[in-house]
Amino acid sequence: MRMLEIGVCGTDKEIARFKYGEPPGGSDRLIIGHESLGEVIETASDVKSITRGDLVVPSVRRPCLQPECSACAIGRQDFCYTGKYRERGIKSLDGFMTEVVVEKERYLHRVPPGLRDVAVLTEPLTISRKAIRQIFEVQDRLPWTCAVPPSPRKDERPVISCRRALVLGAGPVGLLAAMTLVDAGFETMVYSRVSGVSERVEITKAIGARFINAEQISAKNLPDSIGQVDAVLEAVGASQLAFEVLSLLGPNSIFVFTGVPGTGERMSLDVGTLMRNIVLKNQVLLGTVNAGPEDFESALQSLSQFDKRWPGILQRLITRRVPPEAAPDLLSGHGEKAIKTVVAMTNGMN
Ligand code: BGC
Ligand code: ZN
Repeated sequence: MRMLEIGVCGTDKEIARFKYGEPPGGSDRLIIGHESLGEVIETASDVKSITRGDLVVPSVRRPCLQPECSACAIGRQDFCYTGKYRERGIKSLDGFMTEVVVEKERYLHRVPPGLRDVAVLTEPLTISRKAIRQIFEVQDRLPWTCAVPPSPRKDERPVISCRRALVLGAGPVGLLAAMTLVDAGFETMVYSRVSGVSERVEITKAIGARFINAEQISAKNLPDSIGQVDAVLEAVGASQLAFEVLSLLGPNSIFVFTGVPGTGERMSLDVGTLMRNIVLKNQVLLGTVNAGPEDFESALQSLSQFDKRWPGILQRLITRRVPPEAAPDLLSGHGEKAIKTVVAMTNGMN
């Protein structure tokens, strides 16, 4: 593959600060980059599903190769048991911020040409695709679908328009999660800190979700101002906020953690109340990392669907594109205003 675009996220910045990540064994450097889009320039003779000229998004995680790992053995390294999985651009394997990459066919997902300008968002979208799939699987335990008018067809999605979801964080993962939840039928709210006029607020409104500014409403006051929610999708990696919101959850709710916070954060917490609530209110806490092949496929379908439903919005998540030379500054930058910055690996288009 010739690499076309690489998205930069918080994980990359942490790696660049030597707070996370690991180079390949025996190497003293790691090629960064795990959110990517490439173009196939050459294939081996036994490659069937992909040909020269195809646009592809590679997945990130690779199996641990331990014989006892039943997850990695069947290509579900996102559920690796041993912890010895590898991740391209993050852990023990070089990533994609380079001119040319060789990859196995089974780790590549073909991108419809019409998604060229937004396909670099596939990987961050897989987080909420995997999350929502599990939300539905877990909540199947409940009378969770709303009272439906008669004659629902078998192939119809469950009616969940009476269900309410809250997304913590308005970064790319949070906003893509909000789109995922709105599109699935949830009444969706996004809770984040912003000051002044914000593109994040505009995007939230444009997709039919409600923005709640954490500058104005503290976590403690959330239930009073927004009422109960059925699902929370945490996408900030801020442990304090997550646990504050967790302790306010209502009956039968599910709280999904997707952020990877720094370690050593401390707060005091009424764990008695928390545990009581979890039991007496049938609550679920779910952690989810990385994504399986089906999540990459469904993320690509969602990108097409979102682009149809909200023309121009996905494009607005990509605030800017910079040349590779700008990557070092980008990686050391803190608290940027941009939603998603993408490194364009080639000059101009193709
Ligand atoms: C990546 C995931 C990865 C996780 C933990 C995230 O930024 O998107 O693919 O599993 O970091 O390393
Ligand atoms: Zn990432």
